[in-house]
Amino acid sequence: MTKSPTTGTRVEFRHVSKVFEHKKTTTQALDDVNLTVEPGEIMGIIGYSGAGKSTLVRLINGLDTPTEGELLLDETNIAGMSEKKLRSLRRSIGMIFQQFNLFNSRTAAGNIEYPLQLAGVAKAERKRRVQELLEFVGLGDKGSNYPEQLSGGQKQRVGIARALATNPRLLLADEATSALDPQTTHEVLELLRQVNQKFGITIVVITHEMEVVRSIADKVAVMEEGRVVEQGSIYEVFSNPQTPVAQRFVSTSLRNTPDHVEADDLLAHEGRLFTINLTENSGFFGAAAQLRERGVSISIVHGGVTTLQQHSFGKMTVRLNGSDEAIEEFYHTMSQTTDIQEIKR
Ligand SMILES: Nc1ncnc2c1ncn2[C@@H]1O[C@H](COP(=O)(O)OP(=O)(O)OP(=O)(O)O)[C@@H](O)[C@H]1O
Ligand SMILES: [Mg+2]
Repeated sequence: MTKSPTTGTRVEFRHVSKVFEHKKTTTQALDDVNLTVEPGEIMGIIGYSGAGKSTLVRLINGLDTPTEGELLLDETNIAGMSEKKLRSLRRSIGMIFQQFNLFNSRTAAGNIEYPLQLAGVAKAERKRRVQELLEFVGLGDKGSNYPEQLSGGQKQRVGIARALATNPRLLLADEATSALDPQTTHEVLELLRQVNQKFGITIVVITHEMEVVRSIADKVAVMEEGRVVEQGSIYEVFSNPQTPVAQRFVSTSLRNTPDHVEADDLLAHEGRLFTINLTENSGFFGAAAQLRERGVSISIVHGGVTTLQQHSFGKMTVRLNGSDEAIEEFYHTMSQTTDIQEIKR
């Protein structure tokens, strides 16, 4: 593709709050948000319904304005900027949506062409650019199809091509894969990753699925009740979530600890159960060898190890059968180097 930008936009929220006033009710949608997305980064924003994710995105593209704080796009504070300036700013930001938001009366090509028409690009150049974009998103032969003749995944590819038409340096995706099945979700996320790598565009991905964060993001911010309660690299947050809400999201994605039903099943048998946090130097193998020497049997009954950003980490649940004294010693040794918890009735 031609005319590709070399770096993405930097986004920084500084003490941003957003309050909606509606008759007599006020809603604090964002509460003192501090968040930085570096140029070319993919930031995942995750939270339950009503956490403030869409509000955050609407502030970035100037559809709403902060009640308090500063919102910097590169060096420019857009909080309180005039509508006219915001309009031109919006042209440098691409946006994709859960419901695709395509014009049903226009073909795939016509949808992608639309922002180029608005930008006053000459017809011959528009045609060339549209074909180039269709090919980039893997729809080279679907330009004349109308949205109703496309699958959900294909519609989102058109949405992505349209968002890229005017060479944005920032792409915002609000639940862009929530209407898609897992395989199609994977393909669309893969395409977004290519967009990021090829053009260096900064991408902000809003989602309520930790799997989406895991498969595409470099960093993640966890939101709850209008606040960013936790943020860091995906490795940091997945391997060591600090807040209950982050822990819940991580456990839905990693599934490496027994849930209540599984724990009940496991407790129906003899022996004591321990869940151990596996880190690169958890000392498990040494401690396990000592247990065996003392006649304690060990079996792994649950667990999973993940690799993220070149680190491996996970959790494992073991069943130990043998002398309580040896098991207590094992517990004591392990708890000095890692997290270990006994599962009890
Ligand atoms: N225009 C508005 N007027 C009044 N309240 C609003 C407005 N937009 C959002 N809110 C409120 O702000 C809070 C955050 O809403 P927001 O849409 O940002 O949540 P969300 O995290 O995107 O949720 P979901 O996952 O359901 O999309 C909610 O309590 C919502 O009702
Ligand atoms: Mg939303």
